[in-house]
Amino acid sequence: MSEKNFKGSLGNYHLITTDSGDITLWSEYFNENFHSLDGAFNETRHNYIDGCQLINKLNADLTILDIGFGLGIGLLATLDFINQQIVTKKFKHKLNYFSVELDEELVKWTLTNSLQEKINPFKKTTSDGLTVYTANIPNFAATILIGEATQTLMQAKKSNLIPSANAIFQDAFSPTKNPSLWSVEWFTLLHQLSAADVLLATYSSASVVLKNLQSAGWNVSKIAGFGRKKHIIQAKLS
Ligand SMILES: C[S@@+](CC[C@H](N)C(=O)[O-])C[C@H]1O[C@@H](n2cnc3c(N)ncnc32)[C@H](O)[C@@H]1O
Repeated sequence: MSEKNFKGSLGNYHLITTDSGDITLWSEYFNENFHSLDGAFNETRHNYIDGCQLINKLNADLTILDIGFGLGIGLLATLDFINQQIVTKKFKHKLNYFSVELDEELVKWTLTNSLQEKINPFKKTTSDGLTVYTANIPNFAATILIGEATQTLMQAKKSNLIPSANAIFQDAFSPTKNPSLWSVEWFTLLHQLSAADVLLATYSSASVVLKNLQSAGWNVSKIAGFGRKKHIIQAKLS
């Protein structure tokens, strides 16, 4: 296992090599790893690409909301999947990818070290009080909202910046470390940002998550987890 450090706005990050050979991070501020040590990319594909059944959402424009940009693996796994669908002509529409991130230095690190060869260039702009990093290429737009997600998403909604989501990757840190992104208010905001066909997936199957999702109007089911994890959660609207 090789490890290195870098500093973000929220303290230090350690690079960790997973058992699958790819990289994840450990956050000093949250005292938690970003991904399963069984494999960052494979976990992301299982939990979110498969968990949100993107394969069934290819016949129209697709809007994805990825909670917690972090190391950008959600974006990488989405692009990997969509590019395969484009090659086989199963997806001929537009992909809108939205994410949120509290730590701007982490976003800059990820865009430089992990994503530069995949999507270049992201541009930083400020509008309606929001700091955003955006990339636009034909049939694909990516937007990362910088700051506290409970506020930036509310502002993006007010400014009509964000289309209704067809898929939500709920990938915050754990409910004990990152409680504001697992509350009833949070899941109510996600509900308001969703299209009728939305599927939300998350790695946490904690009872507080099930309960808060249900209180915010989501229909919840448990599906098979990745690696050592028995279950993950999939949620739909009534
Ligand atoms: C588990 S990591 C996400 C990993 C990411 N999906 C990936 O594939 O690399 C959670 C991320 O959420 C961010 N985060 C935590 N609380 C936040 C908040 N209140 N608003 C916005 N971002 C937040 C953290 O900084 C961290 O990057």
